[in-house]
Amino acid sequence: MHPLIDKFHRAGQGQVFAHFDRLDTATQTQLLQDASEIDLAEVAQLSRTLLGAAASAVDLADLNPAPYISLPQHGGDRAAWVQAKTTGETALRNGRVAAFTVAGGQGTRLGYDGPKGTFPVTPVRARPLFQVFAEKILAAGRRYGRPLHWFIMTSHQNHDATVAFFTEHKNFGLAEQYLHFLRQGRMPAVDFAGKILLESPGAIAMSPDGHGGSLRALERSGALDLMQREGIDCLSYFQVDNPLVRCIDPAFIGWHLLQGSEMSSKMVPKAHAGEKVGHFCVQHGKLVVVEYSDLPMDRQEETDATGQLRFIAGSIAIHMLDREFVRRMARPANTGAALAFHRANKKIPTIDDRGNPVKPAEANGVKFELFVFDALPFAQNPVVIETERADDFSPVKNAGGTDSPQTCRDDQLRQFTRWLRTCGVEVATDESGLPNIRIEVSPLFGYDAETFGEAWRKLDPVPAVSDGLCLDA
Ligand code: UTP
Repeated sequence: MHPLIDKFHRAGQGQVFAHFDRLDTATQTQLLQDASEIDLAEVAQLSRTLLGAAASAVDLADLNPAPYISLPQHGGDRAAWVQAKTTGETALRNGRVAAFTVAGGQGTRLGYDGPKGTFPVTPVRARPLFQVFAEKILAAGRRYGRPLHWFIMTSHQNHDATVAFFTEHKNFGLAEQYLHFLRQGRMPAVDFAGKILLESPGAIAMSPDGHGGSLRALERSGALDLMQREGIDCLSYFQVDNPLVRCIDPAFIGWHLLQGSEMSSKMVPKAHAGEKVGHFCVQHGKLVVVEYSDLPMDRQEETDATGQLRFIAGSIAIHMLDREFVRRMARPANTGAALAFHRANKKIPTIDDRGNPVKPAEANGVKFELFVFDALPFAQNPVVIETERADDFSPVKNAGGTDSPQTCRDDQLRQFTRWLRTCGVEVATDESGLPNIRIEVSPLFGYDAETFGEAWRKLDPVPAVSDGLCLDA
């Protein structure tokens, strides 16, 4: 027997090779290769700790809301924000910052066929998410006189399609040497008894190891070494589904650097008690994010003396990461600072004993995932700053309803309208700020109120907006 197959049998995972003898040679080789990626001891340990009866509820002892730095318009220190911005701009001019997008998710809720970054997201020209980020990064590089490196984390499933999409679009104008794709790791799915599931007779049900897998992937791929060679020590981390994100935000970079933070985060005040975002909290003296599903509703509804929600600070998955902090987190054996896996019950397409496909109607197994915010308690001086939701966060998660392509297009239109208004251009809107004309602004023209205003004031003649407007570089 092949030694790897023997090893799986001894670990109680022999079912992975139940159909091996009737596979063709190429499939056998592939199955052996996939199996060799699996750390059987880790799977056994996760099954023991996360699947068993002992799998406990989340610890909520000594949990309090996390402090955060308020925006000037909400009482924050204006001079300190100005200093932060200046500090961030200097770091950008000195080439210390790179952008980092996690784009390895499966996007099952959106139900779009293809890497999520290729989804057409802008309101008029239907430009893809990747183009929006590429143009923001390109524009910021031009503004600060230093092209920015951009790291994009893909998965096994979407890597080739992602790279091909960039090639097909000539990297959206980015120079090849500044663009880096890194593939994240995978974990096998297991049934509720901890047995590794097959998705077909010759393939293990494997899925990406969560956005927290990005820390390992940055190290393993050599991205951290490349950063070091290039003199980059800060990574601006954001998700692929949020075109509003200020990918390169000087004030955020500045706060991160001025406070000597190893991992910084942006928060928005929760829209209402039940909003489904993680909560920034302090527990046992450490910054943590507690997911909405883990914080009981009566705690989410707690208010302070002024009537404001106590657990107000919602996480929007935007971070600054210090390069050496990532390295430390990626080498847990050396430091003991390891992210812990979470379990998610899922409907996992699999096969029955005879090898026939089974499409489960109910969750039939578990996927294991790492979450990037679990690194926060290990970070020195972690900072949380407030941001305006309307200028940083409108994710595309669902096919319809909240956080959908429609809500995201509307939020982009509202933002373009606000920028125009700041320049004294009147645009008719409904009470939510949504204009009744079609507007689109390429980030190469302007990517925030400030850069938009500068570009707008240079226009001669000033374009009419009454019939709609598209502004390019
Ligand atoms: P989500 O939590 O929205 O998950 O990811 P998802 O897989 O994209 O979508 P659903 O839940 O299947 O509908 C948040 C961000 O983290 C990235 C995603 O690409 C997205 O940018 N992510 C998630 C990864 O890069 N890898 C993962 O393993 C999971």
